[in-house]
Formats: sequence, structure tokens, C-alpha cells
Amino acid sequence: MSMRMIIQGAKPLYGEISVSGMKNAALPILFATILVKDVCVLDNIPNVSDISTTLDLLSQMGAKITRSARNTVLIDTTHIEEGTSPDELVRRLRGSSYLLGAELGRFGRSRIAWPGGCDFGGTRPLDLHLKGFRALGAKTDTEGGFISAEAENGLVGGSVYFDIASVGATVNVILASVLAEGTTVIDNAAREPHIVDLANFLNACGADIVGAGTSVIKIHGVTALKGCSYTIIPDMIEAGTYMAAVAATGGCVRVRSVIPKHVESITTKLCEMGVQVTEEDDSVLVQSNRPLNNVNIQTLCYPGFPTDMHPQFAVLLCIANGIGSIHEGVWSNRFRYAEELTKMGAKIMVDSQNATVVGVEKLTGATVEATDLRAGAALVIAGLCAEGTTEIRGVRYIQRGYDSIVEKLRGIGAEIEEKYIDEETTESIPKAN
Ligand code: EPZ
Repeated sequence: MSMRMIIQGAKPLYGEISVSGMKNAALPILFATILVKDVCVLDNIPNVSDISTTLDLLSQMGAKITRSARNTVLIDTTHIEEGTSPDELVRRLRGSSYLLGAELGRFGRSRIAWPGGCDFGGTRPLDLHLKGFRALGAKTDTEGGFISAEAENGLVGGSVYFDIASVGATVNVILASVLAEGTTVIDNAAREPHIVDLANFLNACGADIVGAGTSVIKIHGVTALKGCSYTIIPDMIEAGTYMAAVAATGGCVRVRSVIPKHVESITTKLCEMGVQVTEEDDSVLVQSNRPLNNVNIQTLCYPGFPTDMHPQFAVLLCIANGIGSIHEGVWSNRFRYAEELTKMGAKIMVDSQNATVVGVEKLTGATVEATDLRAGAALVIAGLCAEGTTEIRGVRYIQRGYDSIVEKLRGIGAEIEEKYIDEETTESIPKAN
């Protein structure tokens, strides 16, 4: 049995839609609880499969986890045991690389299976993470599909410069250094809002981290952390995805539970395309009357335009006037969605890390396949604005990072449903709500 999304497109969207907590902030914070050895209450945890995999993983390691409400998780890592991470779950997630920093910080060593996660068709190295651990005195090794790091004499603060402002490496060095002796300095650190959220959570537990959100982060080691209650920030990429959906279909939607500053680069590009975006206290109002203007997009680290919004904006360029372009500046290959959009009538030419997109009058519904999370989100937007019926396969990728996407989009007037298909009989069974 596999899940499909079926969309009847070309319908403008109206109303209000709410954004959930940010997956990419919740992931490091969940792994950071390993350092706490106490009870943490985490609110605004999104209901997405990457998070349920992480909760399963931590629970198999001995964490006591209870859900007190749909989006609230109590997690007690007092009795977690070192070296017990289940390989199969680690291999499902990129975020499981955070086990390295967290276990190193708590136990002085870690050995995990090579983490999985969305596959963009290129490599997703971890050399900067390991460079960071070595700067704290750990020895590292990558052999036989496993990664290990060990600090025989304990971790001691050090300085590390990242050639690339890697989100994952910044998270991992923060995790490893919070309980280390002395001060650690990360230079050219990632500045993403989820880094700030992780630092705020750890500081609420008693850590001493300064500079998160800038490119120099200093971590003064402390001897122990205590539990706290913490609310995860809203997901700027989920917000941006719904903003792009309204831009594509036309209509008027208030996207709620947003930190407008976090979506500034997305708002700016939408305005260049002729979409009206009004920032409110904790929401943005998006009004769109197609046609859209073409633009050139270059993805960069925060506060630049996010790579995780690139595929969704490619769809907007497909239906904009004239010719637009995208330069992917973070990942070496993130264009696997282009072939799928072509099946819907798009004209996209990909050359290395660049795409040229010639706007067409309309996209037409087709059967398409999501190849990763944001590619899947792009296909949903394409289906919403296309004429006719779109069937999306590979829905499991979309479920990794979008909480209740079908229900939320239905709430603003989209005709979208999920169906289980029995592969053998190809009979379709509607999903129970
Ligand atoms: C995080 O991945 C996100 N994942 C990604 O979101 C996101 O695309 C990416 O940051 C960039 O914003 C999570 O937060 C779980 P990086 P991460 O380390 O940490 C190179 C989504 O759709 N690099 O910042 O793996 C790397 O090859 C996902 O939600 C090294 O060279 O990304 C890339 O070119 C997909 N060596 C660049 O840095 C390293 O050791 C940025 O990667 C690490 C990274």
C-alpha cells in the first residue's frame, strides 16, 4: 500500500492557514535533550515523520517520552544509554548526525550508523562536523558505514573555523561543547533561526552560549544542565511554502504563526514577482493576482534566500511572464523535481547548479513523483495551480516535514486528498481522517 495525493487544481485559495513548529529546530533540540539528564517539556513540536522517527530513536535509547498534547512532548533522558542508537532509524534521518555531538557531550564518545535524509543526488558530507569535534580534542573515524568520535581525556573547548557556514556542523559543535571544559569559539557559524532556537533552548537549561544568530558563536562550558519548558519557533519554510502556494493559485490568505523577519527573503522575492505581502505581528497576508513577474533567484545561507524554498519558487517561475533563473548556491544538485514539472508542461533547462525557466501560460495536471521533501512541496504547489488532476507519488517525503498539509490546504479551499493505493490491485482506498 502506498499513499498518493490527488489534487484538482486551478482554484484560488482564500482564508487562514496556521504554521506548525519548525522541524529543523525541533530536531536538534530533541537530540540536545540527551545532554540534559532531566525532564524537558517541548511545545510546538510538529507532527511529521522525521520527528516521530527521532522520538522512536530516543525512546529506543532509553529516554522516557510522553505526549501531553498533540504538539507537546515531555522527554526525560536521565536513563539514556550510550551506544544504543538503532542503526535502522539513524539511517532514515539526516538529523540523526546530531547524536554525535550530543553523545560526545554526555558520554565522551559516540558511534553511529551513517545518517540518511533527503537525497538530492549529490553528496552530503560530514567533514566539517568532524573537524569541529577534533578542535575539541576528540578523535574521529569513518569506516564501514559508521562514524565515531571519542575524547578519551574529556572534551576541552577550542576554536573552529567553518569553510562553509554549515547548519549541521554548527549544531553538532554547539552540542559537543556545552558541557566541555573551557570556551569554544565557532567562526563562520550558520546564522539560521534554528541555530538561535537551539542556543535559546540550551541556555534555558543553564548553558552559556553567546552570539547565536551571528557568525561567531562562543560556548562557555558548564558542568551540568537542568530541564526546562520550551516552545519551538514556527517553521519559516512551511510558511514560505504556503505563501508560494497562494502566489501560484491567486487568492488571499493570512498565513498565521509566522515570525515575519524569518521569511523576509521570501517576502521580498514574492513582492518582486508582483505578489502583495503584508507583514503583521505574527502573520503575513498574501494576496496574488496572476500573472507573476519573472525573477532571478540565488540560494544562500540565512539571511539569504533559502535553498529549502528553491523548488517551490521554481514552480512560480514556471507560470511567470518571461524567463527567470535559479542559481542553487548550497547543494550541488537539487533539481530532480525539474523532470517532474516538465511532465506538467513546464519549460526548465538545468545546467549544473543553474536552472533557466521559461514561463508558460499554464501547467497541466499529471502523475508525478516526489523525490525529496521540498521537491514534494513544489509538486503540491504545481498541482494546486495546474489545470486538471495531479497525482503525486512519493508522499512519504512530504510527510517528513509538513504537518497536516492536506487538512491545512483544504482549510483554504484546495481540492486535495490523500489515498492509499493497493499496488497489486491498484484499487484506491480513501484515507481515514
Ligand atoms: C540543513 O541540512 C537542513 N536539514 C536542510 O534542510 C537544509 O537544506 C540545509 O541545512 C541548508 O539550509 C536539517 O536541518 C535537518 P548544511 P544540513 O550542513 O545541516 C556542505 C529540508 O528540506 N557541507 O548547512 O545537512 C553541504 O554539502 C532539509 O528540510 C560540507 O561540505 O546542511 C552543503 O553544500 C534538506 N561539509 C552545505 O555545506 C559538512 O560537513 C550546507 O550544508 C557539512 C556540510
